[in-house]
Amino acid sequence: MEKIVSFCKRKGFIFQSSSIYGGIGGFYDYGPLGSQMKKNIKDNWWNFMVNTRANVVGLDSAIIVNPKVWEASGHLENFTDPLTECRKCHKRFRADHLIEGCGLELSQIKCPECNGDLMDVRNFNLMLKTFIGPVEDSSSIAYLRPETAQAIFINFKNVLDTQRLKIPFGIAQIGKAFRNEITPGNFVFRTREFEQMEMEFFIKPGEQEKWFKYWLDERIRWYTDILGIKKENLRIKETPKEDLAHYAIACADIEYNFPSMGWSEIEGVASRGDYDLSQHEKYSGEDLKYFDEAKGEKYIPYVIEPSCGVDRTMLALICDAYEELEKGRSGDSNATEIVLKLNSNISPIKIAVLPLVKNKEEITSKAKQVFNLLSPCFVSEYDETGTIGKRYRRQDEIGTPFCVTIDFDTLNDNAVTVRNRDTMGQERILIKDLMEYFNKNV
Ligand code: GAP
Repeated sequence: MEKIVSFCKRKGFIFQSSSIYGGIGGFYDYGPLGSQMKKNIKDNWWNFMVNTRANVVGLDSAIIVNPKVWEASGHLENFTDPLTECRKCHKRFRADHLIEGCGLELSQIKCPECNGDLMDVRNFNLMLKTFIGPVEDSSSIAYLRPETAQAIFINFKNVLDTQRLKIPFGIAQIGKAFRNEITPGNFVFRTREFEQMEMEFFIKPGEQEKWFKYWLDERIRWYTDILGIKKENLRIKETPKEDLAHYAIACADIEYNFPSMGWSEIEGVASRGDYDLSQHEKYSGEDLKYFDEAKGEKYIPYVIEPSCGVDRTMLALICDAYEELEKGRSGDSNATEIVLKLNSNISPIKIAVLPLVKNKEEITSKAKQVFNLLSPCFVSEYDETGTIGKRYRRQDEIGTPFCVTIDFDTLNDNAVTVRNRDTMGQERILIKDLMEYFNKNV
């Protein structure tokens, strides 16, 4: 994992936030390559979950909502982690993490940092608070949302009234969420500001088992077929009945086998019954029932919720795609070469356009023409610095699936060399056929 963290920084994927001021715990910034890759993950999720389904629509809600939402959802009362603190060094820990798997009571455990005594556990609410307007008192308290899901529930009626949807249907949303984690860590795995991709799928009560299985299968298909994550690095962990949250009928985590951390959750799929809509109906006084005209039935729908973290997905993708080739696969160097074998739909840069030499005007201007042709449709990079071998390796390292080289022959035959990252195979393609070639291959 240390290698992955330093790779992400070195290549401009992910930086510690506010690093020039010494950083700030639990916050990260996504650099030029990271922000593009993150966008690709979100676009692929949106395409898979919304655009390709006639019965799923999107939403983009406010981050701050009426605080009553969090009262109704139970977050104000229950969204807590058990906190303990060392009496000596005053470091804070999650009590459940300290006792996990060690078979001891908390009273038998000492501070992992200084061996001091630990204080009794208290429940710590994870919601980040702020104030609305100029007066900072209890009437102006608001919260940064800890999940995107609740805004979907409170917009259920708006969407239903405006979209002519029939059950089963889904409402999906991508957006930032904030949690005042006691111990953020493991790079972007547990942070205080992160992004979620969530969908609430509203169904007829009684059909929850069928739809829970359907969405679990669909979500695994997204990770394997669309993102290209290796099947052996994914598993499903069902939550035992006795550990389910009070509102959940069933829940399963999709886990990725991370280096150092091992199997850890990247997504939760939950069967939430009618808990959320019933609570919002009770607290708001609005009728949130669905009316089935054909059957003349009125009911509060049940919900299946696939809830995925963008940052954890990105970390899993980088870990999965990162390969170190000790001897140098291109054979012209003994240095370790890194290849990031990302699926082409996830790679931040799809095509690198490389003039063979940089001091020959006819070649660089031809290369710029090729860049102008490709870049409106495929995120491309123009690079003329260094030997062609070095430039190929630079692109392999950031996961670019194709390099296009413009050489002296191009000036005569109007063709370029297209080099494939994974096979290192090279093909000669006419410039006029490049768009068709990449439409087929990216
Ligand atoms: N609406 C349900 C919900 O929020 P969750 O299991 O608490 O469920 C869903 O969160 C996903 O959000 C997780 O599987 C994870 O990918 C991501 N996530 C949660 N807390 C996170 C954190 N502190 N840092 C990064 N990602 C987080």
